Amino acid sequence: MTTALPQVLVRRAALPLDGAVPFTVGEGDWPLRGVLVQRAGALQAYVNRCPHAGHRLDLPVGKFTTPDGLWLRCASHGALFRFSDGECVAGPCAGRALQSLPITVDADGNVLLLALAAE
Ligand code: FES
Repeated sequence: MTTALPQVLVRRAALPLDGAVPFTVGEGDWPLRGVLVQRAGALQAYVNRCPHAGHRLDLPVGKFTTPDGLWLRCASHGALFRFSDGECVAGPCAGRALQSLPITVDADGNVLLLALAAE
C-alpha cells in the first residue's frame, strides 16, 4: 500500500461528540480500515480489527458501541474495549488491545493520520 502521509481522515467538527466512525485509507484489496473515536473531548484512532479473531469490530458497518455508549464493542463475539486506550476489558480477548494509530488535529480542524501503524 502506498499512501501519502499525513492523511486527512475527517474534519473534527463532523465527528459525533461521544462516538466512533469508520475510516479507510488506501486502495486495493487491503486498505487500512480504522475507527476514529471521540469521547469526553479526546480523540483516538485504532485499526478496525479485533485482537480476538481479527474480525472488523462493526457489524453492521459503523455500529461500534454498546447501546449505552460506554464501550467499543466487537460484534462478532462481544468483546468490550475502552475508548481511551483500546484495551479489551471483557470478552474472549480480555487484557489485549486494539492497535492504536497516531493522529493529530491541524490548525484547520482536520484530523490527520500520521502513520499507518503505531510505533
Ligand atoms: S472477533 Fe472480536 S470478539 Fe471475537
